[in-house]
Amino acid sequence: MAFTITQKLVFLALYFCFFAQGSKADLLKVGFYNTTCAQAEAIVREEVSKAVASDPGLAAGLLRLHFHDCFVRGCDASIMLVSYPWNQAEIDAIPNKSLRGFEIIWYAKWRLEQVCKGIVSCADILAFAARDSVALSGGITYAVPSGRRDGRTSSASEALQNLPPPFGDVNRITQMFANKGLTQDEMVTLSGAHTIGQSHCSSFSSRLYNFSPNSSTDPTLNSTLASQLIQKCPQSNTNPNTTVSIDPVTPNTFDVKYYQNLLSNNGLFTSDQTLMSSSATSSLVTQYAQNSQTFMSKFAAAMIKMGNIDVLTGTNGEIRTWCHVTN
Ligand code: HEM
Ligand SMILES: *[C@@H]1O[C@H](CO)[C@@H](O)[C@H](O)[C@H]1NC(C)=O
Ligand SMILES: *[C@@H]1O[C@H](CO)[C@@H](O)[C@H](O)[C@H]1NC(C)=O
Ligand SMILES: *[C@@H]1O[C@H](CO)[C@@H](O)[C@H](O)[C@H]1NC(C)=O
Ligand SMILES: *[C@@H]1O[C@H](CO)[C@@H](O)[C@H](O)[C@H]1NC(C)=O
Ligand SMILES: *[C@@H]1O[C@H](CO)[C@@H](O)[C@H](O)[C@H]1NC(C)=O
Repeated sequence: MAFTITQKLVFLALYFCFFAQGSKADLLKVGFYNTTCAQAEAIVREEVSKAVASDPGLAAGLLRLHFHDCFVRGCDASIMLVSYPWNQAEIDAIPNKSLRGFEIIWYAKWRLEQVCKGIVSCADILAFAARDSVALSGGITYAVPSGRRDGRTSSASEALQNLPPPFGDVNRITQMFANKGLTQDEMVTLSGAHTIGQSHCSSFSSRLYNFSPNSSTDPTLNSTLASQLIQKCPQSNTNPNTTVSIDPVTPNTFDVKYYQNLLSNNGLFTSDQTLMSSSATSSLVTQYAQNSQTFMSKFAAAMIKMGNIDVLTGTNGEIRTWCHVTN
């Protein structure tokens, strides 16, 4: 008996639903390099340890690199490609400010090319390094599914469109995470990364000066913190290189202090403090502030999910020889 065209189309649609989805869920595998480059994760960890031992702030830099990579074109190391006169790359977009840690990835990649040439992608190195950075800063460790391949393009304008701005409110930030398949719950969880690291004044100075007709500073910013920030970041003559700790209490420790800070209005960015402005997000903040274990395990799970955004696998993309240029 022959099927009608409509029936055939339905079968085809079902086929794609099941198989496309079923394979998508396990594109990446923990231990992807077990047989092809057994030392891969150990070498990355060694380089990250050395770097963080000499400058603890680099852990934050590496964690942020993976986030920026994944939110723009998926986790494909497009964040590492340099610009050309005919193409401004992500690395040169405005939100790239203060991106740091590139040299650690370059060096780990160089070492990996010596022992297993052409095997380990820059995108996976970024994911391993982010995991190691969290662990070395006192957070949780977790198994990173790998097998990502590197992309061939990078664009500054895509970075601007996809990266959440520090002045975004809870609805806007939630929407930008939803665009990447991440829930509001995961957004609150991943924001906990701001328990480590530094920020330039320009990322929050709008909260300090001419905030609104009624109030020169943002009323949701703790006034003690506001005056400290005004001292460090004067309205005129701010040194563009000045940085402040995002979590002023334990700036290099991966803990739940970030959430505790939000409870006393000590979030640095609007995008941080805004988590207290809706009941769904603020109740999660309160929970994390009190329960480090819950936060840590949910953070690990959310990082794994973020690390899956639009990955290239199989024969897509390439394994770059040098992380800053395509082959
Ligand atoms: C929720 C939306 C987010 C916004 C609006 C945001 C915004 C920012 C901004 C403006 C900075 C400071 C840049 C500067 O002025 O130097 C920063 C730093 C940082 N961000 Fe985020 N971020 C967000 C989410 C995330 C996520 C999901 C992660 C990682 C999982 C992350 C990790 C970091 C880290 C570790 C730093 C410190 C970097 C360093 O010290 O070098 N952020 N973020
Ligand atoms: C690699 O080895 C680890 C530890 O033995 C194992 O958990 C993992 O499933 C292996 N992965 C692959 C893809 O073989
Ligand atoms: C970030 O972009 C600016 C231009 O907007 C560029 O001058 C700077 O070198 C870039 N930073 C990094 C770390 O590449
Ligand atoms: C400013 O104050 C007026 C009067 O108290 C109030 O109606 C208005 O909502 C306030 N605006 C802001 C942005 O807080
Ligand atoms: C900021 O840092 C850059 C690069 O290190 C340096 O060239 C510049 O002079 C610094 N600017 C100020 C005002 O210190
Ligand atoms: C401001 O922060 C301090 C801790 O730095 C805290 O003791 C105080 O209660 C906070 N004030 C408000 C209004 O949240």
